[in-house]
Amino acid sequence: MEILILGSRGNLGGQLVKVFKADKEYEVVAWDREEIDITDKGLVFKKIRELKPDIIINATAYNAVDKCEEDEKEFTLAKKINAEAVGYLVEACLEVDAVLIHYSSDYVFAGDRKEGYKEDDKPDPINKYGETKLAGEEELIKKSGQGLKYYLIRTSKLFGPRGEGELTKPSFFDLMLDLAKKKKELDVVNEEVSCFTYTPDLARATKKLLESDKGYGIYHITNVGRATWHEAAAELFKIIGKKIKINPVKGDKFPRPARRPAYSVLINTKFDMQRDWKEALKEYLKK
Ligand SMILES: NC(=O)c1ccc[n+]([C@@H]2O[C@H](COP(=O)([O-])OP(=O)(O)OC[C@H]3O[C@@H](n4cnc5c(N)ncnc54)[C@H](OP(=O)(O)O)[C@@H]3O)[C@@H](O)[C@H]2O)c1
Repeated sequence: MEILILGSRGNLGGQLVKVFKADKEYEVVAWDREEIDITDKGLVFKKIRELKPDIIINATAYNAVDKCEEDEKEFTLAKKINAEAVGYLVEACLEVDAVLIHYSSDYVFAGDRKEGYKEDDKPDPINKYGETKLAGEEELIKKSGQGLKYYLIRTSKLFGPRGEGELTKPSFFDLMLDLAKKKKELDVVNEEVSCFTYTPDLARATKKLLESDKGYGIYHITNVGRATWHEAAAELFKIIGKKIKINPVKGDKFPRPARRPAYSVLINTKFDMQRDWKEALKEYLKK
């Protein structure tokens, strides 16, 4: 089975490559921006027609939530990567009859529901990044009637080993560990309730979903448990036994261009539950 992983040097992409390469059933082709710019329509069709993979996993991303909120050029780029290019992949998958796995975000939801969102709840993004991710989802959904074989996996607050790509971001926990080296006291926003997701767990769950007899469609995959940024920081320092004062503060202490959903817990009603995020965090810190 030939599997093409796009965005293979990213935070999630790197873990997907590891997980699929470990199984001899798969012949893994790992491409990142150097091998293919997914916004280049002609190149996408040419390379996918040549390769004819059985499965394509799209782990590419434009993730600069604040930059694309206030800069029109960045917003255009975000739309290209997160939406238009997804449309090219959809067309190419239909042409070569490949299964497409694509990732979306809790940011497609408005975040006004304390209980969270199920897979078929109606998205209603409140920032431009969320709009681009929703537009990407729509590229898949509108072709589902034409026989597109797809898994659309929404996830949130990724953390795990840092990818090798140029623009990959350090995770929240890495940023906190770094700050704690420099400061005795930290202000951390006690808002934005959602679920943390360990990229090795998400990569393994993706493989399991692909190999399961679950139908195509939308899935919510995160680690179990919900937390604000402050709660997550408190857990991090508790696990490593670091004594540091962390003050819970409101979001407006750190004004940012893009609004964030207040409650964007992704409720999983269709697939296996993943372990608690605190367990996953312990494993990450051990490594
Ligand atoms: N990070 C989160 O907390 C989070 C939350 C919810 C959902 N998600 C979703 O999860 C998925 C994976 O995100 P991630 O955080 O792992 O992303 P990431 O670490 O930023 O990796 C993205 C990868 O895509 C590559 N890429 C960007 N533009 C490209 C292009 N035009 N052509 C080819 N490759 C390109 C990047 O290469 P360069 O480094 O060279 O640019 C990078 O290797 C995305 O769909 C994202 O929206 C992430």
